[in-house]
Amino acid sequence: MRKIVILTGAGISAESGIETFRAEDGLWAQHHIEDVATPEGFVRDPKLVVDFYNARRAQAASVEPNAAHRALARLEVEHEAEVVVITQNVDDLHERGGTTTLYHMHGHLKSALCADCDHRWPAPMVMSPGDACPSCTAPSARPDIVWFGEMPYDMETLFRHLTEADLFAAIGTSGNVYPAAGFVAEARRSGAHTIEFNLERSAVGNQFAEHRIGPASQTVTAWVDDLLKK
Ligand code: APR
Ligand code: ZN
Repeated sequence: MRKIVILTGAGISAESGIETFRAEDGLWAQHHIEDVATPEGFVRDPKLVVDFYNARRAQAASVEPNAAHRALARLEVEHEAEVVVITQNVDDLHERGGTTTLYHMHGHLKSALCADCDHRWPAPMVMSPGDACPSCTAPSARPDIVWFGEMPYDMETLFRHLTEADLFAAIGTSGNVYPAAGFVAEARRSGAHTIEFNLERSAVGNQFAEHRIGPASQTVTAWVDDLLKK
């Protein structure tokens, strides 16, 4: 086996204490997506948006990676195949869990972006609307998050990894948001075996060859143990 590609979503961070988006009490039950996760929302009320990400940045800093994050890091170190993790999450739990080949396709709470010159720099714990860009000095800092209607990062590279995957796993994602929800179809087209790890079948669950139902901290750890035994 040459390459294992893993897509993760909010469900892998749930057992660390970070709420998911689409659960009853999830983030999208508490906030309107169009107000806090769109470019229009940022123009309308930059303070509301910046404060939303300040709260999520503080929460991410206050929780720990769980056994699922750590299992993926062990897989990357110990398995002879190349292991590539693509996350939709903007927390840093994969990095803190030890994963190194990692793509944040929806951006990252720890990064700030200049809306004028595209410069990126480490975000302060608390951002304010109108913070100056350290490169072009314009008052145009924004969270380095991919909002609805914006293009996810590294898409060309991600599709190349998917075409080269022998094994594709999706962990803790509801399959509601594209292009991530389309990754399983791409992996199948490349002949990869596909496994979904979730508490229930996702919106694209029927496209996976295999399902491991249960909390990721248990199912992913058992899966990695199996893979490393072979
Ligand atoms: N173990 C495994 N799966 C879990 C667990 C758990 N402990 N807890 C929840 N899940 C599953 C849920 O069943 C659900 O299918 O994780 C999934 C979380 O789905 P969402 O809340 O929709 O999160 P996600 O799929 O990551 O959302 C994708 O949507 O709002 C945008 O940009 C945002 O990156 C996000 C994208
Ligand atoms: Zn700038």
